[in-house]
Amino acid sequence: MELGGGGRRRGLVETSTRVLDRLAVGAGHTVLVQGAAGGVGTVAVQMAAARGATVIGTASEHNHDLLRSLGAEPTTYGPGLPERVRALAPGGVDAVFDCAGGALPDLIAVAGDPARVVTIAPDFTAAALGVHLSHTAPVDEPEALGSADPMALHGLRIAVGLAAEGRLRVPVAAAFPLAEAAAAHELSETRHARGKIVLVN
Ligand SMILES: NC(=O)c1ccc[n+]([C@@H]2O[C@H](COP(=O)([O-])OP(=O)(O)OC[C@H]3O[C@@H](n4cnc5c(N)ncnc54)[C@H](OP(=O)(O)O)[C@@H]3O)[C@@H](O)[C@H]2O)c1
Repeated sequence: MELGGGGRRRGLVETSTRVLDRLAVGAGHTVLVQGAAGGVGTVAVQMAAARGATVIGTASEHNHDLLRSLGAEPTTYGPGLPERVRALAPGGVDAVFDCAGGALPDLIAVAGDPARVVTIAPDFTAAALGVHLSHTAPVDEPEALGSADPMALHGLRIAVGLAAEGRLRVPVAAAFPLAEAAAAHELSETRHARGKIVLVN
């Protein structure tokens, strides 16, 4: 099971913790995770739920049972998202964790304020819309921090505890031997992997 990584690698757990911390997600909050059935999204859903938040996750319909099993209320992404989320969370949404990109105006409408939206996707409309695009500097090059966020490596200890309690799992979309790395990349590029893609040496 991959629980994230240090050095230059941005693991699922590190990324999820970094963004949930930045959004100050805690007990009693309602969080929308956009792209919730992917590698980062599946971990972000579980780590937000473990903080005591109510989680709404977006995915294609065939992934909705997966999202339910991880602790999220599912809905589809795409046109009409703010209305669908309002129906699920009439009291509003405190924070939006965007793992997908391409829909920031709708996500800002859901949150009510761009400061309550953080994206990790390479969505270059983020800065103009006032949305923080979270990325990191390598731990061994802190001088490269610039606009980057510090790595949230403390999340690894939290994740190990949750995994030991059976409250965190990493769904594996597919495992490939190293020699088939190209096929792994092809699956990744579909943007429809269900969980994490693993390369096995
Ligand atoms: N900045 C950082 O620190 C950082 C760290 C890690 C990853 N990333 C980036 O974050 C993104 C997500 O990473 P990942 O590993 O979770 O990717 P992934 O596993 O490829 O994500 C796939 C998920 O995206 C969903 N999706 C596809 N098109 C979508 C759309 N138009 N709207 C909403 N959701 C959509 C899919 O949903 P369905 O299959 O259900 O349709 C699928 O569940 C990537 O761009 C990655 O490069 C950034």
